[in-house]
Amino acid sequence: MLQGKHIVLGVTGSIAAYKAALLVRGLVKAGAEVRVVMTPLAKAFITPLTMATLSKHPIMVDFYQPENGDWNSHVSLGLWADLLLIAPATANTIAKMANGIADNLLLTTYLSAKCPVMIAPAMDVDMFQHEATQNNLHLLQQRGHQIIAPKEGELASGLVGAGRFEEPEIIIQQIETFFSKEGKLHGKKIMVTAGPTFEPIDPVRFIGNYSSGKMGIALAEEAAARGADVTLICGAIESYPSYSNIKVVKTKTAKEMETACLQHFSDCDIAIKAAAVADFTPMEVAEQKIKKHDSEEAPIIRLKPTTDILATLGKLKTDHQILVGFALETEKHREHALQKMAAKNLNFIVLNDAKTPGAGFGCNTNEITILFPDGKEQHFDKKSKHLVAQDILNTIENLLSN
Ligand code: CTP
Repeated sequence: MLQGKHIVLGVTGSIAAYKAALLVRGLVKAGAEVRVVMTPLAKAFITPLTMATLSKHPIMVDFYQPENGDWNSHVSLGLWADLLLIAPATANTIAKMANGIADNLLLTTYLSAKCPVMIAPAMDVDMFQHEATQNNLHLLQQRGHQIIAPKEGELASGLVGAGRFEEPEIIIQQIETFFSKEGKLHGKKIMVTAGPTFEPIDPVRFIGNYSSGKMGIALAEEAAARGADVTLICGAIESYPSYSNIKVVKTKTAKEMETACLQHFSDCDIAIKAAAVADFTPMEVAEQKIKKHDSEEAPIIRLKPTTDILATLGKLKTDHQILVGFALETEKHREHALQKMAAKNLNFIVLNDAKTPGAGFGCNTNEITILFPDGKEQHFDKKSKHLVAQDILNTIENLLSN
Protein backbone atom coordinates (compact mmCIF):
# COMPACT_ATOMS: atom_id res chain seq x y z
CA MET A 1 0.00 0.00 0.00
CA LEU A 2 2.84 2.42 0.83
CA GLN A 3 5.30 0.89 -1.63
CA GLY A 4 8.05 3.36 -2.44
CA LYS A 5 6.52 6.25 -0.48
CA HIS A 6 9.06 8.52 1.19
CA ILE A 7 8.08 9.29 4.74
CA VAL A 8 10.02 11.51 7.13
CA LEU A 9 9.04 10.65 10.67
CA GLY A 10 9.71 13.33 13.25
CA VAL A 11 9.86 12.03 16.81
CA THR A 12 9.69 14.42 19.76
CA GLY A 13 10.27 14.08 23.50
CA SER A 14 7.08 12.43 24.68
CA ILE A 15 6.64 9.29 26.74
CA ALA A 16 4.71 7.97 23.71
CA ALA A 17 7.97 8.06 21.69
CA TYR A 18 8.40 4.32 22.27
CA LYS A 19 5.34 3.80 20.06
CA ALA A 20 7.21 5.53 17.22
CA ALA A 21 9.25 2.31 16.99
CA LEU A 22 6.08 0.36 16.13
CA LEU A 23 5.15 3.10 13.70
CA VAL A 24 8.46 2.79 11.83
CA ARG A 25 8.23 -0.99 11.76
CA GLY A 26 4.67 -0.83 10.40
CA LEU A 27 5.51 1.79 7.77
CA VAL A 28 8.56 -0.14 6.56
CA LYS A 29 6.51 -3.35 6.47
CA ALA A 30 3.89 -1.56 4.34
CA GLY A 31 6.63 -0.74 1.82
CA ALA A 32 7.51 2.84 2.77
CA GLU A 33 11.02 4.27 2.92
CA VAL A 34 11.37 5.98 6.27
CA ARG A 35 13.90 8.54 7.52
CA VAL A 36 13.70 9.43 11.17
CA VAL A 37 14.48 12.86 12.59
CA MET A 38 14.46 13.10 16.38
CA THR A 39 14.50 16.12 18.63
CA PRO A 40 17.34 16.05 21.19
CA LEU A 41 14.91 15.22 24.01
CA ALA A 42 13.31 12.34 22.06
CA LYS A 43 16.59 10.43 22.48
CA ALA A 44 15.85 10.23 26.20
CA PHE A 45 12.64 8.31 25.49
CA ILE A 46 13.66 5.98 22.65
CA THR A 47 17.17 5.14 21.54
CA PRO A 48 18.52 6.21 18.15
CA LEU A 49 19.82 2.66 17.75
CA THR A 50 16.29 1.22 17.93
CA MET A 51 14.95 3.74 15.41
CA ALA A 52 17.94 3.37 13.08
CA THR A 53 17.67 -0.42 13.14
CA LEU A 54 13.95 -0.41 12.39
CA SER A 55 14.13 2.28 9.70
CA LYS A 56 17.33 0.74 8.24
CA HIS A 57 18.91 4.21 8.10
CA PRO A 58 20.84 6.36 10.56
CA ILE A 59 18.57 8.72 12.44
CA MET A 60 19.18 12.47 12.40
CA VAL A 61 19.16 14.78 15.39
CA ASP A 62 21.75 17.51 14.85
CA PHE A 63 22.31 19.95 12.02
CA TYR A 64 25.65 18.26 11.44
CA GLN A 65 27.59 15.22 12.64
CA PRO A 66 29.84 16.51 15.44
CA GLU A 67 32.46 13.81 14.70
CA ASN A 68 33.13 14.71 11.07
CA GLY A 69 31.18 17.89 10.31
CA ASP A 70 28.89 16.08 7.83
CA TRP A 71 25.86 18.29 7.12
CA ASN A 72 22.33 16.88 7.66
CA SER A 73 20.48 18.78 4.96
CA HIS A 74 17.00 19.64 6.14
CA VAL A 75 16.29 21.11 2.72
CA SER A 76 16.93 17.93 0.77
CA LEU A 77 15.15 15.88 3.44
CA GLY A 78 12.11 18.16 3.17
CA LEU A 79 12.13 17.83 -0.62
CA TRP A 80 12.67 14.05 -0.52
CA ALA A 81 9.57 13.45 1.62
CA ASP A 82 6.16 12.55 0.20
CA LEU A 83 4.84 12.97 3.71
CA LEU A 84 6.17 14.51 6.91
CA LEU A 85 4.68 12.75 9.91
CA ILE A 86 5.36 14.19 13.36
CA ALA A 87 4.47 11.47 15.83
CA PRO A 88 4.36 11.83 18.72
CA ALA A 89 4.19 15.62 18.66
CA THR A 90 4.61 17.41 21.99
CA ALA A 91 2.93 20.70 22.91
CA ASN A 92 6.38 22.30 22.63
CA THR A 93 7.04 21.14 19.05
CA ILE A 94 3.47 21.99 18.03
CA ALA A 95 3.93 25.52 19.42
CA LYS A 96 7.26 25.94 17.61
CA MET A 97 5.80 24.67 14.33
CA ALA A 98 2.88 27.07 14.64
CA ASN A 99 5.25 29.97 15.18
CA GLY A 100 8.03 29.12 12.74
CA ILE A 101 10.71 28.56 15.38
CA ALA A 102 13.63 26.66 13.89
CA ASP A 103 15.90 25.57 16.73
CA ASN A 104 16.34 21.90 15.82
CA LEU A 105 16.65 19.75 12.72
CA LEU A 106 13.05 18.54 12.89
CA LEU A 107 11.76 22.12 12.85
CA THR A 108 14.02 23.25 10.01
CA THR A 109 12.92 20.16 8.07
CA TYR A 110 9.30 21.15 8.72
CA LEU A 111 9.93 24.67 7.45
CA SER A 112 11.62 23.32 4.31
CA ALA A 113 9.11 20.56 3.52
CA LYS A 114 6.90 20.95 0.49
CA CYS A 115 4.90 17.79 1.17
CA PRO A 116 1.71 17.22 3.20
CA VAL A 117 2.19 17.20 6.96
CA MET A 118 0.45 14.99 9.52
CA ILE A 119 0.73 15.60 13.24
CA ALA A 120 -0.15 13.09 15.97
CA PRO A 121 -0.13 14.96 19.29
CA ALA A 122 0.59 13.22 22.60
CA MET A 123 0.54 15.02 25.93
CA ASP A 124 -1.29 15.45 29.19
CA VAL A 125 -4.97 16.34 29.00
CA ASP A 126 -4.47 19.77 30.57
CA MET A 127 -1.69 20.67 28.14
CA PHE A 128 -3.76 19.41 25.22
CA GLN A 129 -6.84 21.35 26.25
CA HIS A 130 -4.95 24.54 27.06
CA GLU A 131 -6.08 27.42 24.90
CA ALA A 132 -2.50 27.94 23.69
CA THR A 133 -2.16 24.36 22.40
CA GLN A 134 -5.65 24.38 20.87
CA ASN A 135 -4.90 27.68 19.11
CA ASN A 136 -1.61 26.30 17.80
CA LEU A 137 -3.30 23.15 16.50
CA HIS A 138 -6.00 25.25 14.91
CA LEU A 139 -3.34 27.34 13.17
CA LEU A 140 -1.58 24.22 11.86
CA GLN A 141 -4.91 22.88 10.63
CA GLN A 142 -5.59 26.15 8.84
CA ARG A 143 -2.24 25.59 7.13
CA GLY A 144 -3.74 22.40 5.73
CA HIS A 145 -1.92 19.99 8.00
CA GLN A 146 -3.80 16.94 9.16
CA ILE A 147 -4.06 16.48 12.90
CA ILE A 148 -4.45 12.88 14.01
CA ALA A 149 -6.59 13.52 17.05
CA PRO A 150 -5.28 12.06 20.29
CA LYS A 151 -7.65 9.69 22.03
CA GLU A 152 -9.18 9.83 25.45
CA GLY A 153 -7.80 7.45 28.03
CA GLU A 154 -5.40 6.98 30.90
CA LEU A 155 -2.30 9.12 30.43
CA ALA A 156 1.25 8.55 31.65
CA SER A 157 0.69 11.17 34.37
CA GLY A 158 -2.18 9.11 35.79
CA LEU A 159 -4.70 11.70 34.58
CA VAL A 160 -7.53 10.53 32.36
CA GLY A 161 -8.64 12.48 29.30
CA ALA A 162 -7.75 13.49 25.74
CA GLY A 163 -4.04 13.49 24.90
CA ARG A 164 -3.29 9.82 24.42
CA PHE A 165 -1.22 9.12 21.31
CA GLU A 166 -3.27 7.38 18.62
CA GLU A 167 -2.36 3.71 18.16
CA PRO A 168 0.37 3.17 15.52
CA GLU A 169 -1.80 0.83 13.43
CA ILE A 170 -4.55 3.48 13.21
CA ILE A 171 -2.00 6.12 12.19
CA ILE A 172 -0.70 3.79 9.48
CA GLN A 173 -4.26 3.19 8.26
CA GLN A 174 -4.78 6.95 8.04
CA ILE A 175 -1.58 7.30 6.05
CA GLU A 176 -2.66 4.51 3.72
CA THR A 177 -6.05 6.11 3.11
CA PHE A 178 -4.31 9.44 2.63
CA PHE A 179 -2.23 7.95 -0.19
CA SER A 180 -5.08 5.93 -1.71
CA LYS A 181 -6.38 8.83 -3.75
CA GLU A 182 -8.01 6.34 -6.07
CA GLY A 183 -10.34 5.30 -3.20
CA LYS A 184 -14.01 5.16 -4.19
CA LEU A 185 -14.97 7.97 -1.84
CA HIS A 186 -12.31 10.30 -3.16
CA GLY A 187 -13.97 13.50 -4.37
CA LYS A 188 -17.46 12.36 -3.34
CA LYS A 189 -19.60 14.86 -1.49
CA ILE A 190 -20.74 13.40 1.81
CA MET A 191 -23.09 14.92 4.34
CA VAL A 192 -22.97 13.52 7.87
CA THR A 193 -25.18 14.57 10.77
CA ALA A 194 -24.08 14.13 14.37
CA GLY A 195 -25.07 14.81 17.93
CA PRO A 196 -28.24 15.76 19.73
CA THR A 197 -30.71 18.53 19.02
CA PHE A 198 -31.78 20.84 21.81
CA GLU A 199 -35.38 22.03 21.83
CA PRO A 200 -35.78 25.20 23.91
CA ILE A 201 -38.38 25.49 26.66
CA ASP A 202 -37.34 28.95 27.82
CA PRO A 203 -34.08 30.95 27.54
CA VAL A 204 -32.28 28.65 30.00
CA ARG A 205 -33.85 25.21 29.54
CA PHE A 206 -34.20 22.70 26.73
CA ILE A 207 -35.23 19.14 25.94
CA GLY A 208 -32.18 17.20 24.77
CA ASN A 209 -30.71 13.71 24.73
CA TYR A 210 -27.47 11.96 25.66
CA SER A 211 -25.95 11.82 22.15
CA SER A 212 -22.29 12.93 22.16
CA GLY A 213 -21.87 13.05 18.38
CA LYS A 214 -18.86 10.70 18.53
CA MET A 215 -20.23 8.26 15.91
CA GLY A 216 -20.98 11.06 13.43
CA ILE A 217 -17.59 12.67 13.99
CA ALA A 218 -15.83 9.34 13.45
CA LEU A 219 -17.76 8.93 10.18
CA ALA A 220 -16.90 12.46 9.06
CA GLU A 221 -13.21 11.98 9.90
CA GLU A 222 -12.97 8.61 8.19
CA ALA A 223 -14.74 9.91 5.07
CA ALA A 224 -12.37 12.91 4.99
CA ALA A 225 -9.37 10.61 5.40
CA ARG A 226 -10.61 8.71 2.32
CA GLY A 227 -10.57 11.93 0.33
CA ALA A 228 -14.28 12.78 0.45
CA ASP A 229 -15.53 16.34 0.55
CA VAL A 230 -17.36 16.23 3.89
CA THR A 231 -20.01 18.49 5.41
CA LEU A 232 -20.76 17.71 9.04
CA ILE A 233 -24.07 19.09 10.25
CA CYS A 234 -24.06 18.83 14.00
CA GLY A 235 -26.03 19.61 17.10
CA ALA A 236 -24.34 20.44 20.41
CA ILE A 237 -21.41 18.02 20.23
CA GLU A 238 -18.62 17.67 22.78
CA SER A 239 -15.67 18.12 20.43
CA TYR A 240 -15.18 18.92 16.78
CA PRO A 241 -13.40 16.89 14.10
CA SER A 242 -9.71 17.43 13.61
CA TYR A 243 -9.54 17.38 9.81
CA SER A 244 -9.27 20.66 7.96
CA ASN A 245 -11.26 19.40 4.96
CA ILE A 246 -14.47 18.87 6.95
CA LYS A 247 -16.93 21.72 6.66
CA VAL A 248 -18.76 22.01 9.99
CA VAL A 249 -22.28 23.46 10.09
CA LYS A 250 -23.39 24.06 13.67
CA THR A 251 -27.09 23.79 14.48
CA LYS A 252 -29.07 23.60 17.69
CA THR A 253 -32.68 22.63 17.13
CA ALA A 254 -34.27 19.98 14.93
CA LYS A 255 -35.64 22.80 12.77
CA GLU A 256 -32.16 24.30 12.25
CA MET A 257 -30.74 20.87 11.43
CA GLU A 258 -33.57 20.26 8.95
CA THR A 259 -32.88 23.59 7.21
CA ALA A 260 -29.14 22.84 6.98
CA CYS A 261 -29.75 19.29 5.68
CA LEU A 262 -32.16 20.48 3.03
CA GLN A 263 -29.66 23.12 1.96
CA HIS A 264 -26.87 20.58 1.42
CA PHE A 265 -28.65 17.38 0.39
CA SER A 266 -29.30 18.07 -3.30
CA ASP A 267 -25.59 18.68 -3.81
CA CYS A 268 -24.32 15.55 -2.07
CA ASP A 269 -23.65 12.01 -3.30
CA ILE A 270 -24.01 10.36 0.08
CA ALA A 271 -25.82 11.33 3.29
CA ILE A 272 -25.38 9.54 6.60
CA LYS A 273 -27.75 10.56 9.37
CA ALA A 274 -26.17 9.71 12.70
CA ALA A 275 -27.76 12.60 14.61
CA ALA A 276 -30.20 11.97 17.45
CA VAL A 277 -32.91 14.37 16.36
CA ALA A 278 -35.66 15.26 18.83
CA ASP A 279 -39.02 13.86 17.76
CA PHE A 280 -40.93 16.51 19.67
CA THR A 281 -40.39 20.17 20.45
CA PRO A 282 -42.26 22.53 22.82
CA MET A 283 -45.25 24.20 21.16
CA GLU A 284 -44.28 27.49 22.72
CA VAL A 285 -40.96 28.79 23.94
CA ALA A 286 -41.32 31.07 26.96
CA GLU A 287 -39.64 34.42 26.34
CA GLN A 288 -38.51 34.73 29.94
CA LYS A 289 -37.22 32.11 32.33
CA ILE A 290 -40.17 30.16 33.75
CA LYS A 291 -40.15 30.92 37.47
CA LYS A 292 -40.83 28.36 40.16
CA HIS A 293 -43.64 30.42 41.63
CA ASP A 294 -45.29 31.51 38.34
CA SER A 295 -48.24 29.21 39.04
CA GLU A 296 -49.48 27.10 41.89
CA GLU A 297 -48.86 23.86 40.02
CA ALA A 298 -45.94 22.49 38.05
CA PRO A 299 -46.04 23.82 34.47
CA ILE A 300 -47.16 21.51 31.66
CA ILE A 301 -45.01 21.68 28.53
CA ARG A 302 -47.06 20.92 25.46
CA LEU A 303 -45.13 19.35 22.60
CA LYS A 304 -45.55 19.17 18.85
CA PRO A 305 -43.77 16.73 16.49
CA THR A 306 -40.67 17.81 14.58
CA THR A 307 -40.15 16.97 10.93
CA ASP A 308 -38.51 13.60 10.35
CA ILE A 309 -35.49 14.91 8.44
CA LEU A 310 -34.35 11.51 7.20
CA ALA A 311 -37.81 10.65 5.87
CA THR A 312 -37.90 14.02 4.09
CA LEU A 313 -34.51 13.33 2.49
CA GLY A 314 -35.73 9.83 1.56
CA LYS A 315 -38.52 11.42 -0.49
CA LEU A 316 -36.08 13.77 -2.24
CA LYS A 317 -33.41 11.13 -2.87
CA THR A 318 -32.44 10.45 -6.48
CA ASP A 319 -31.14 7.11 -7.84
CA HIS A 320 -27.60 8.51 -7.79
CA GLN A 321 -27.65 9.29 -4.09
CA ILE A 322 -26.97 6.96 -1.18
CA LEU A 323 -28.92 7.59 2.00
CA VAL A 324 -28.02 5.86 5.27
CA GLY A 325 -29.82 6.09 8.59
CA PHE A 326 -29.37 4.82 12.11
CA ALA A 327 -31.86 3.04 14.33
CA LEU A 328 -31.26 3.10 18.06
CA GLU A 329 -33.62 0.59 19.61
CA THR A 330 -34.38 -0.89 23.00
CA GLU A 331 -36.80 -3.66 21.89
CA LYS A 332 -37.98 -5.42 18.70
CA HIS A 333 -34.74 -4.17 17.17
CA ARG A 334 -34.89 -5.76 13.73
CA GLU A 335 -38.59 -5.14 13.26
CA HIS A 336 -38.31 -1.44 14.10
CA ALA A 337 -35.15 -0.92 12.06
CA LEU A 338 -36.66 -2.61 8.99
CA GLN A 339 -39.76 -0.43 9.28
CA LYS A 340 -37.61 2.71 9.46
CA MET A 341 -35.47 1.66 6.49
CA ALA A 342 -38.56 1.13 4.34
CA ALA A 343 -40.43 4.23 5.53
CA LYS A 344 -37.41 6.48 5.00
CA ASN A 345 -36.28 4.99 1.65
CA LEU A 346 -32.75 4.12 2.79
CA ASN A 347 -29.98 2.18 1.05
CA PHE A 348 -29.23 0.58 4.39
CA ILE A 349 -29.80 1.15 8.08
CA VAL A 350 -27.32 0.85 10.94
CA LEU A 351 -28.97 -0.79 13.91
CA ASN A 352 -27.64 -0.50 17.44
CA ASP A 353 -29.08 -1.43 20.78
CA ALA A 354 -29.29 1.35 23.35
CA LYS A 355 -29.12 -1.24 26.14
CA THR A 356 -25.96 -3.10 25.02
CA PRO A 357 -23.04 -2.00 27.22
CA GLY A 358 -20.47 -0.20 25.08
CA ALA A 359 -22.93 0.62 22.28
CA GLY A 360 -25.00 3.67 21.47
CA PHE A 361 -24.91 7.09 23.11
CA GLY A 362 -21.84 8.61 24.67
CA CYS A 363 -19.36 5.72 24.68
CA ASN A 364 -16.28 5.34 22.49
CA THR A 365 -17.33 1.94 21.14
CA ASN A 366 -20.32 0.66 19.25
CA GLU A 367 -21.75 -2.67 18.15
CA ILE A 368 -23.80 -2.53 14.99
CA THR A 369 -25.79 -4.63 12.57
CA ILE A 370 -26.27 -3.32 9.05
CA LEU A 371 -29.61 -4.23 7.47
CA PHE A 372 -30.24 -4.02 3.73
CA PRO A 373 -33.58 -3.69 1.88
CA ASP A 374 -33.15 -7.12 0.23
CA GLY A 375 -33.25 -8.80 3.65
CA LYS A 376 -29.48 -9.35 3.93
CA GLU A 377 -27.72 -8.23 7.08
CA GLN A 378 -24.22 -8.07 8.51
CA HIS A 379 -23.31 -7.99 12.17
CA PHE A 380 -20.09 -6.38 13.41
CA ASP A 381 -18.54 -7.06 16.80
CA LYS A 382 -18.09 -4.29 19.35
CA LYS A 383 -15.21 -2.00 18.38
CA SER A 384 -14.13 1.65 18.55
CA LYS A 385 -16.42 4.11 16.80
CA HIS A 386 -13.51 4.93 14.51
CA LEU A 387 -13.41 1.29 13.32
CA VAL A 388 -17.22 1.15 13.14
CA ALA A 389 -17.04 4.18 10.85
CA GLN A 390 -14.67 2.19 8.62
CA ASP A 391 -17.16 -0.70 8.44
CA ILE A 392 -19.98 1.68 7.48
CA LEU A 393 -17.89 3.45 4.83
CA ASN A 394 -16.63 0.14 3.46
CA THR A 395 -20.28 -0.87 3.06
CA ILE A 396 -20.95 2.38 1.16
CA GLU A 397 -17.90 1.76 -1.05
CA ASN A 398 -19.26 -1.71 -1.84
CA LEU A 399 -22.58 -0.17 -2.89
CA LEU A 400 -20.70 2.26 -5.14
CA SER A 401 -18.93 -0.58 -6.91
CA ASN A 402 -22.15 -2.52 -7.59
N1 CTP B 1 -34.25 11.12 12.31
C1 CTP B 1 -34.38 12.31 11.62
N2 CTP B 1 -35.29 13.24 12.06
C2 CTP B 1 -36.06 13.03 13.12
C3 CTP B 1 -35.93 11.81 13.83
C4 CTP B 1 -35.00 10.88 13.40
O1 CTP B 1 -33.67 12.53 10.64
N3 CTP B 1 -36.94 13.96 13.50
C5 CTP B 1 -33.27 10.13 11.81
C6 CTP B 1 -32.11 9.84 12.75
O2 CTP B 1 -31.01 10.67 12.44
C7 CTP B 1 -31.80 8.37 12.45
C8 CTP B 1 -33.13 7.81 12.01
O3 CTP B 1 -33.97 8.91 11.68
O4 CTP B 1 -30.90 8.23 11.35
C9 CTP B 1 -33.82 6.98 13.07
O5 CTP B 1 -33.92 7.70 14.26
P1 CTP B 1 -34.56 7.05 15.56
O6 CTP B 1 -34.57 8.05 16.65
O7 CTP B 1 -33.93 5.69 15.81
O8 CTP B 1 -36.04 6.72 15.09
P2 CTP B 1 -37.32 7.56 14.83
O9 CTP B 1 -37.60 7.49 13.36
O10 CTP B 1 -37.21 8.92 15.43
O11 CTP B 1 -38.43 6.69 15.57
P3 CTP B 1 -38.57 6.32 17.15
O12 CTP B 1 -37.98 7.52 17.90
O13 CTP B 1 -40.02 6.17 17.30
O14 CTP B 1 -37.79 5.05 17.37
